[in-house]
Amino acid sequence: MGSAIMVANMKGGVGKSTLTCYLADYFRKNQKKRSLSLIDTDVQGSTFEMLQADGGFENLRHLPIGDRYDAVNVVTVDTIVRNHLGTAKDLLLIDTCAGKPDSICQIAMMCHCLLVPVSINWGDIRPTRDFIEEIQDRKDSSRAITPHIIVVPNRIPYQQRDYSSLKEALSELDVVIAPGLSDLSIVRHQTKKFSGMDPTKGTRFYEEIMHFGNFITEYILGGKLDSIYSNNNVIELRR
Ligand SMILES: Nc1ncnc2c1ncn2[C@@H]1O[C@H](COP(=O)(O)OP(=O)(O)O)[C@@H](O)[C@H]1O
Ligand SMILES: [Mg+2]
Repeated sequence: MGSAIMVANMKGGVGKSTLTCYLADYFRKNQKKRSLSLIDTDVQGSTFEMLQADGGFENLRHLPIGDRYDAVNVVTVDTIVRNHLGTAKDLLLIDTCAGKPDSICQIAMMCHCLLVPVSINWGDIRPTRDFIEEIQDRKDSSRAITPHIIVVPNRIPYQQRDYSSLKEALSELDVVIAPGLSDLSIVRHQTKKFSGMDPTKGTRFYEEIMHFGNFITEYILGGKLDSIYSNNNVIELRR
């Protein structure tokens, strides 16, 4: 099966677009055998603009989905996701807006994985938890094991390596916490002229995004989480 990965969080400014762009660059360099497509569903289109400025992404589309007037785009994105799931070498990355429009939640349910960036500030953690609960409810009511929900600690201050407050706040939820990403000023300044991971070489962020990409490759693309969750013993443990 192909893989559709959605980057989402009802909280804005947590790094959804940033993560989408860096992961897109990671996949482009490290998953050359797969055909990578990108969709920006945020009306603001910042991911679309950043990746378009880079120039090296062929299958890049801006299909805005908000609360209203988006029926055609919802159907288009829905169709693209379904088509991607049928072809093993396909890899689809979708960036989303803040808020939690029903249409985005519905598309999320068709995806293999949901990446949820969040800082370790309480003001970000609380709405993030609400968002995850919403998706979790939908998963539970359809007894689905996907989308796997992966929380990505982002903008971690250089000296701060302790995610215990985040882990504690999310402890009731069925999520996997990914290796985190540091706050790096070059990242903030790449918004206007994105040129991939290379400008961050030599920084901790570069190592982290490589590590994060390898983690996604192994656990999502490699099917590790699928096999863990389809194992009945684990499901029993959860109950
Ligand atoms: N790891 C990071 N280090 C430094 N700045 C970051 C990092 N991640 C995101 N940012 C900055 O935070 C702001 C919000 O990020 P953005 O990706 O636009 O969030 P969202 O898409 O969730 O609204 C942007 O200015 C971005 O450059
Ligand atoms: Mg964004």
